[in-house]
Amino acid sequence: MSKTIIRRKTDNLYRLFAICPGGLDGVLKTEIEGLGAHVLEVYSGGVEFEGNLEMTYKACLSLRSASRLLLMIQDVKQIYEPEEMYDAVRSVDWLKIFSPESTFAVYFTETNNKSRNAPINSQYWALKAKDAIADFFTERFGKRPNVDRQAPDISIKLHLHNHILKIYLDLSGRSLHERGYRSKTLEAPIKENLAAGLLLLCGWDKKAKEKVTFLDPFCGSGTILIEAAMIATNTPPSLFRTTFGFNAWKDHIPSIFEKVKNELVLKIDKNPDLMPLLLGSDQSPEALNVTRQNLKNCGLEDVVKLQAVPFEFSKPATPVGLIVTNPPYGVRLNEVESLKATYQKLGSTLKHQYKGWRCGVITSEEVLFHAIALKPSKKWKLHNGSLESEFRIFDMF
Ligand SMILES: C[S@@+](CC[C@H](N)C(=O)[O-])C[C@H]1O[C@@H](n2cnc3c(N)ncnc32)[C@H](O)[C@@H]1O
Repeated sequence: MSKTIIRRKTDNLYRLFAICPGGLDGVLKTEIEGLGAHVLEVYSGGVEFEGNLEMTYKACLSLRSASRLLLMIQDVKQIYEPEEMYDAVRSVDWLKIFSPESTFAVYFTETNNKSRNAPINSQYWALKAKDAIADFFTERFGKRPNVDRQAPDISIKLHLHNHILKIYLDLSGRSLHERGYRSKTLEAPIKENLAAGLLLLCGWDKKAKEKVTFLDPFCGSGTILIEAAMIATNTPPSLFRTTFGFNAWKDHIPSIFEKVKNELVLKIDKNPDLMPLLLGSDQSPEALNVTRQNLKNCGLEDVVKLQAVPFEFSKPATPVGLIVTNPPYGVRLNEVESLKATYQKLGSTLKHQYKGWRCGVITSEEVLFHAIALKPSKKWKLHNGSLESEFRIFDMF
């Protein structure tokens, strides 16, 4: 059985795995390299890289398109049966990860384990893995850590792929899309890490430095706009979170975390002379009130301008700009039908009013893209929560 890998002794590097929505792996890789970390491998839906403790904290605080950051504890080949998995999990030196006073939970997922005859019951495998960890502690201390599935101190993720078992500690805890700035939500907000990923797909990080105007004309509770403002001001997206999955981790050193956080805070730049115009609009004044509150929660209310206006009655503020938006979308057929008119107006407003602008639109229905009646210059398939969606870019000449 292989030894517990937690940190390489020679250079103190951890093996880390950042998860993102499928389709955003390219932007996530660029983000990770931008932090100065060494990327080991890019998968659809995640990027493996290495970094020391400081880099681990920096990644947790700074990665915009990631939904989770996992620490590789061990990988074990040739796992076919739950008993083999039990032995592999029990052989990990869990004392290096957490103490029996902390609560924990185990999650198990699997893909592509074709050589087994019987299907894998993920819940049963998760239960067996939980027993293996509990038995490890009972054997040494005569007591075991309690399980808490709602808010565990320590979250262990297991993934079995091609009969290779990967055992991870979830360093993010709650998903990284929960930035900690949202006090109220409206219907159908887009996830924050997906919103950031769309902006990065459009090159917003570079455009913001060139002071290109940004607009979300269907801004709802302001997710895309707030992520755009965070990128423009170099605000770390997870700065407002109060807890992470590493809080009860044995290697966690709060003073190093605070140092990394303070260094990132010093790099926030809200200098009005360097700021692009950041605009959010929506036809609903109530939605704009929620956006305003969310902006206040992250100290960005002064860098953004809001306006209550239906997009079809708007005029561009500057000759050139970038729109990234998530117009209303329906799941049921009658909802989709009634939204066609909104997308037709979106297309014709872009065509007639927004020449010189680039517009990125995410939606889940092909018929709605059809209603826009514009030819995209680029498109990506992405998941918006459980909805298969597409993000298309329209360049208006
Ligand atoms: C899917 S929501 C946007 C959600 C937003 N991305 C968020 O994260 O909260 C769509 C928004 O479009 C707005 N809307 C619908 N028709 C509009 C129109 N013609 N012009 C401007 N806003 C419109 C709705 O009020 C709603 O807030």
